[in-house]
Amino acid sequence: MQKIIINGGYPLTGSIRASGSKNAVLPLIFASLLPKGVSVLHNVPRIGDVEVAIRIISELGARVEHNNSALVIDATDLTYNSPNPDLISKIRASTYLMGATLSRFGIAEPGEFGGCNFSSRPIDYHLAIAEAMGAKRVGNKLVAEKLWGAKIHLPKPSVGATVNAAIMAAAADGETEIFGYAKEPHVMSVLKFLSSIGAKILVNEESIKIAGSPLHPAEFTVIGDMIEAGSYLVAALMTEGKITVTGIDPRELTSFLKSIFDMGYSPEISDSSITLDASIKSKNIVPPITVNAAPYPAFPTDLQPIIAPLLSRYGGVITDSVWKERFGYLSALGKMGLKYNSSQGAAKIEKSCLYRASVTSPDLRGGMALIIAALSAKGRSEILSPEIILRGYDNLIEKLESLGANIKLINL
Ligand code: EPU
Repeated sequence: MQKIIINGGYPLTGSIRASGSKNAVLPLIFASLLPKGVSVLHNVPRIGDVEVAIRIISELGARVEHNNSALVIDATDLTYNSPNPDLISKIRASTYLMGATLSRFGIAEPGEFGGCNFSSRPIDYHLAIAEAMGAKRVGNKLVAEKLWGAKIHLPKPSVGATVNAAIMAAAADGETEIFGYAKEPHVMSVLKFLSSIGAKILVNEESIKIAGSPLHPAEFTVIGDMIEAGSYLVAALMTEGKITVTGIDPRELTSFLKSIFDMGYSPEISDSSITLDASIKSKNIVPPITVNAAPYPAFPTDLQPIIAPLLSRYGGVITDSVWKERFGYLSALGKMGLKYNSSQGAAKIEKSCLYRASVTSPDLRGGMALIIAALSAKGRSEILSPEIILRGYDNLIEKLESLGANIKLINL
């Protein structure tokens, strides 16, 4: 068990580089199992979820080395075993193992997939895709002699279902077409990886077409983490600081930057970096500020808990159409002074003053919101269960220290 201690009230200043994106690298680790041979992923973050993914694929016989930020995955001797339920239940991305083993071995075991439990997280789309491509349920397993291309219509633009459909389609017989697909940058990067290992992919506004092909290993670089970048930028504003985040494509954060702009700030944007200076502020703020989280290119749901502490400065409304129940984190922020009302799909944040407290991380992004609030509140705060946050933020303590934060991780 660990806890984080923060002495807050100091401005964050300086520059940091965003690490590789959590939600981009996890599907790539499982997609690397499709061909025999050695694939190499660069810019891989050292985060808890990546460690779990490595343990899952190692238990199936993949040989994995994580050197600096390169991950070398040799999937030559992979065999099918029932995946370890303890590991599978730790991360949501283990859903991608299902697609990868169905494709390579014709068998998969949908289990209790994990991840943050801020909402119910069904896998009905994933199962329907596997069945549309020829898999049959036998007991608790999915089996397929061969996967066949299929027309897939997603009821909602699901990131996981789009990625899993693409993983299964890459080596299937014939063409798969995915309608209603998710357009997040990490989904697009999986498609690029699948192209680099041999799949034939065409992305149109309406659908993704994938012609299954013989696959081979490849080398690929993980995109920078837009959610990590957004988290540090909000922390800079909350602490009245000035920071630059490099290593990202600012276009991926257009909706987030629009909300920041609505609050009167003026982001400086280059090809691969964003600078925010809390002291440069126009008076053109029109409260209440409204943040509507929805599938890309709208405001990302993974940044809605992160921006909540900043809304306490103005008052505002957050809606989330992806995860309507993703407001449980507000009760922990409430212990730090946040005044709010939440209902299904929406929360009203009152103008409120945040203060130091001892609070427990409810989930990954909710936990990061607590860290941001604690960095801004004068005095000593404690964040319990920080392991949940370290699942998704690479070098969190070191990066915040380098920006001037007074923060410590303590083993209990
Ligand atoms: N959905 C279903 N059935 C399914 C799949 C999804 O009804 O079989 C619904 C969900 O209930 C939700 C919507 O579709 O209402 C979208 O869910 P999606 O499948 O896109 O979510 P996911 O793939 O499980 C990923 C990220 C989440 C992120 C969401 C949305 C990973 C490992 N996780 O989850 O990231 O919130 O996409 O962008 O990629 C995080 O990083 O903190 C995080 C939770």
